[in-house]
Amino acid sequence: MYRHTSLLVTIPILVAWLVSTASATSCNATSPCPSSAPCCSEFGFCGNDNFCLGGCNPFASNSMDSCRPNPVCHDATYTFTDNSRILSNSTYFDGNATEYDWVVDKGNIMNTNSSGGELALLLTQTNGGTRLSSTRYVYYGTVTAKLKTGRWGGVVTAFITMSDVKDEIDWEFPGATTTQAQSNYFWQGVIPTDHTNGQTHNGLSDTFSSYHNYTIDWQPDALTFLIDGNAQRTVKKSDTIDPKTGIANYPSTPSRIQLSLWPAGIDGTAPGTVQWAGGMINWDDPDYKAAGHFYATVKSVSVKCTNVQKPNVNTTSYIYQNSTDKTSPAVALSNRSTLLNSAPVVGVSGMHGTVVGLVVLFLAFVHLF
Ligand SMILES: *[C@@H]1O[C@H](CO)[C@@H](O)[C@H](O)[C@H]1NC(C)=O
Ligand SMILES: *[C@@H]1O[C@H](CO)[C@@H](O)[C@H](O)[C@H]1NC(C)=O
Ligand SMILES: *[C@@H]1O[C@H](CO)[C@@H](O)[C@H](O)[C@H]1NC(C)=O
Ligand SMILES: *[C@@H]1O[C@H](CO)[C@@H](O)[C@H](O)[C@H]1NC(C)=O
Ligand SMILES: *[C@@H]1O[C@H](CO)[C@@H](O)[C@H](O)[C@H]1NC(C)=O
Ligand SMILES: *[C@@H]1O[C@H](CO)[C@@H](O)[C@H](O)[C@H]1NC(C)=O
Ligand SMILES: *[C@@H]1O[C@H](CO)[C@@H](O)[C@H](O)[C@H]1NC(C)=O
Ligand SMILES: *[C@@H]1O[C@H](CO)[C@@H](O)[C@H](O)[C@H]1NC(C)=O
Repeated sequence: MYRHTSLLVTIPILVAWLVSTASATSCNATSPCPSSAPCCSEFGFCGNDNFCLGGCNPFASNSMDSCRPNPVCHDATYTFTDNSRILSNSTYFDGNATEYDWVVDKGNIMNTNSSGGELALLLTQTNGGTRLSSTRYVYYGTVTAKLKTGRWGGVVTAFITMSDVKDEIDWEFPGATTTQAQSNYFWQGVIPTDHTNGQTHNGLSDTFSSYHNYTIDWQPDALTFLIDGNAQRTVKKSDTIDPKTGIANYPSTPSRIQLSLWPAGIDGTAPGTVQWAGGMINWDDPDYKAAGHFYATVKSVSVKCTNVQKPNVNTTSYIYQNSTDKTSPAVALSNRSTLLNSAPVVGVSGMHGTVVGLVVLFLAFVHLF
């Protein structure tokens, strides 16, 4: 029962946790952004520049192509021998997914073992937790994270995929127990009122001291959750059809991979969520005292893309196509740049190019304020 209640409140908390810009205009699908600040950020605020990158919601932005295109999926195994491929503050990301594999949206990271190569996500009483997002999107594919979770009540470790229209697939680890993992999924941010899609998987060997591989095998027709290569659960798309609408409530839009360590057991969190997470955080915990932070450790993340539409040599991105029906977004491959402010300077040269470049720089400068 508690699990059911608490899963329902987990998502709003996750979102509230990261909202920092309270002064900007808010946006949603019925009240999209104005053309002066066309992009609706993942937190529901209008703006320019990095509001138009990861998490920018096309349905709530000024037009379907206000958000920058989503960098296309690449097969890869990301390891963490150093943090050079991680931009430590996502505010400064310019959309170049060739330059960085990950951005830190919030909080702090560390490299725990310079020879072994492990990424630690840190939680302190003041940093409010840490979240990384991949710069590339997965539009179906198999994603595996090899990680060690936290082991402290109120501290949640998570490995998820999240789309710009809030299709979401989760592995979550409430910290009070280190023998279980929880799987969940959401379609377009809708929290079912009559059931939960969350399930608990028990019997793992200590998730804090042992690495396990947690896999999200997300295919167009079915979603399988695996631990150490063993399937735990399969959700068929056909089984998610809402009888009232005939629409499959199944994640089906390009998604970023996110890794996080977040504080659920703190003042201001809904009681059900605190309970689900294992109570209030004990900031006097000996582990916290010894290390100076709580942590979760990631050894690697591997991605094998499933290309439903075949990319060609010039494919760079996914775009949402104009569609009147937001319940069935149309996604296409594209050769458009994912970079901020890239379009105006392409193909210009000489004096004309310089003038255009200066105007673009000036506009970029103005947009900062
Ligand atoms: C959308 O945003 C508008 C303006 O902020 C607000 O009045 C409205 O309640 C919001 N609608 C939803 C469904 O959240
Ligand atoms: C993107 O980053 C790569 C790698 O750092 C670099 O070679 C490339 O020039 C950058 N692209 C642009 C358009 O800045
Ligand atoms: C990232 O940079 C922005 C702008 O300078 C700043 O407000 C924010 O606090 C920084 N975030 C972190 C986690 O350091
Ligand atoms: C650091 O990495 C090496 C090589 O993977 C490993 O043998 C060693 O146990 C690690 N040390 C710590 C403190 O985790
Ligand atoms: C996890 O996956 C890696 C890479 O595929 C593999 O080498 C390793 O044996 C796996 N570990 C476990 C515990 O399944
Ligand atoms: C890729 O772009 C090049 C350069 O513009 C063009 O010549 C080529 O036809 C394009 N290839 C495809 C498959 O679109
Ligand atoms: C959507 O329609 C607008 C207006 O017709 C057009 O300018 C834009 O390029 C279209 N976007 C996409 C992604 O098709
Ligand atoms: C980019 O895509 C457009 C629309 O699909 C196509 O017309 C154009 O030829 C493509 N350009 C390159 C360089 O591939």
